Amino acid sequence: MNLGNRKLRLAVLVSGGGTNLQALMDHAARGDLEGEIVVVAGDRPDAYGLIRARENGIAAHVVDYKAHMRCEMGDPLAVPLPVDLRKLDGIQKIVRDPDTEKRLRRLCRLVAAEREMIGILDAYKPDYICLAGFMRLLTPYFLGHYNRPGQWRVVNIHPALLPAFPGQHGYEDTLGYGCKWGGITIHFADEGEDSGPVLAQAVYPIWPQDGIDDVRRRGLRLEYAMYAQTINWLAAGQIHVQQSKDGRLRASVSDPRYRDVMRRWVDLAFS
Ligand code: GAR
Repeated sequence: MNLGNRKLRLAVLVSGGGTNLQALMDHAARGDLEGEIVVVAGDRPDAYGLIRARENGIAAHVVDYKAHMRCEMGDPLAVPLPVDLRKLDGIQKIVRDPDTEKRLRRLCRLVAAEREMIGILDAYKPDYICLAGFMRLLTPYFLGHYNRPGQWRVVNIHPALLPAFPGQHGYEDTLGYGCKWGGITIHFADEGEDSGPVLAQAVYPIWPQDGIDDVRRRGLRLEYAMYAQTINWLAAGQIHVQQSKDGRLRASVSDPRYRDVMRRWVDLAFS
């Protein structure tokens, strides 16, 4: 992405407290984020992240997913949508209901919500969509709107060392399994669940007496540092995705200070 001298335009999507969003806004205020948050959007009106955004003078919008998901409909294939629902169903991997009718209805509602979301986000011309605790599944319609071959534009942060523990409870699953190390992953989003090329990972120790609050606190401190750094790598054009011989798409970082960054995250995990 050729930016000239400008910062990245970021759209941040939230579902809850928005502490990652807050950390990004704090980094931006300190002048150490090569990105400008141009819009925040949430999937529920009571997402506290939306209040954080407005308090910082950033436009905040809601797409009421709950209302979309409750929406009554007859034949989902008769609903006018921006995509061919059957084709979408053929390539999607996230809605797994074996009942085709139910699956199509769910996809139809998701696409309707995503169409509204895209309409909001595109008005702000974002370079990247940053998922920061956004707990909704994204269909290939949404991802395909932003991702192009060789150009990934949707970034996600996940509170586990992927591919372990995808889903909505990364911290709980890590602790519950008895892991001695927890991890954080930032990755480009693809059609799978918490899959897509890994951009950044860091780990933190889990001590014998730790409860979920200790684990989450330690992990979140890493999340805040990692998300800003990853955005700065993207802004500097230091992230490259290449197809390996095995067909897998892998991302690599070409920052000359890469080792220092990784060491800082280790220090942070132990501090
Ligand atoms: C963060 O821990 C983030 O990694 C996680 O939700 C939390 C949001 O916290 N995301 C996921 O689990 C995505 N699968 P926040 O709203 O305080 O930033």
